[in-house]
Amino acid sequence: MHNNYKEEYQRYYVIFNEYLNEVFSSLDTYAPKTITDAMSYAVGNGGKRVRPVMCLATAELLGVPFDKVKNFAVALECIHSYSLVHDDLPAMDNDDYRRGKLSTHKMFGEANGILAGDALLNFAFELCLSKDNFDLLDAKALKVLAESAGYRGMIAGQVLDLENEKAEVVNKDVLYSIYENKTAKLITAPLLIASELSGGKYRKQFEEFGYNLGVLFQIIDDIMDVEGTLESIGKTPHKDEEVGKLTSVKLFGLDGAKELAKKHYLDCKQILSDIDGCEFLLQLTDAMYVRRK
Ligand code: IPE
Ligand code: IPE
Ligand code: MG
Ligand code: MG
Ligand code: MG
Repeated sequence: MHNNYKEEYQRYYVIFNEYLNEVFSSLDTYAPKTITDAMSYAVGNGGKRVRPVMCLATAELLGVPFDKVKNFAVALECIHSYSLVHDDLPAMDNDDYRRGKLSTHKMFGEANGILAGDALLNFAFELCLSKDNFDLLDAKALKVLAESAGYRGMIAGQVLDLENEKAEVVNKDVLYSIYENKTAKLITAPLLIASELSGGKYRKQFEEFGYNLGVLFQIIDDIMDVEGTLESIGKTPHKDEEVGKLTSVKLFGLDGAKELAKKHYLDCKQILSDIDGCEFLLQLTDAMYVRRK
């Protein structure tokens, strides 16, 4: 991995976090403090910010200025964070820790966890729509966000994930429909949002790359659930096996899952070879393949 990858990531990370803090420090005080506190807590530090970093980097690659993409980057992180808050609820994965802290419902109670998730989802759209001179390209990018997060996107994946807990008949197709939706849709969205804002550049390649990167990302998440610790991953390990989740590790074993990760890693690199100037995305792919947090 090139030395400057970490610096580049850090550069996007800082730009993003500064803007995120600006947005969250000016939430309307008309709202009950409980909800703005819970929203801020859910989004607050501890996340890797992979999706917004990808969004900013891809926008830069395609010549889209930061000002045009910044609200989408925050919106992506709001929706991703909301998906984690709800994912951790007792009715879903029932997790007490997230990003190295107590999960949002543990801090604020279950009802406020549900409401904070709902609030973040709505706020994501409000933020994107609050731009001056909102135009047709913005509308197309917003449609990508809505679809990726919605009933044919992340939510579809979450439903399938829960339906297949302890399922007796499982296969690779079901596993892939879970991965494609619960994880890959929100990993592809930053790429496609930047593409739409640029007038559709490399749309096809980004769809394919995002799919493979998202699947890779979730396989590594499954592996970390087995190999990680609370300190390293910031969430309770060994949960998947405990509740009988359908994961790559369950279906193929640890070595099989690692083989599968390699296949998707190589596919990612192959697809990126079609895109000019994508050095950062190539290095990000390397980092996602070897990540352990
Ligand atoms: C965790 O996402 C949930 C999955 C889709 C696997 P991240 O690994 O991006 O979590 P944070 O945002 O860094 O906490
Ligand atoms: C989470 O998958 C996917 C979404 C939140 C959309 P997991 O349930 O495996 O994520 P973690 O392991 O709790 O972060
Ligand atoms: Mg889950
Ligand atoms: Mg979970
Ligand atoms: Mg997991």
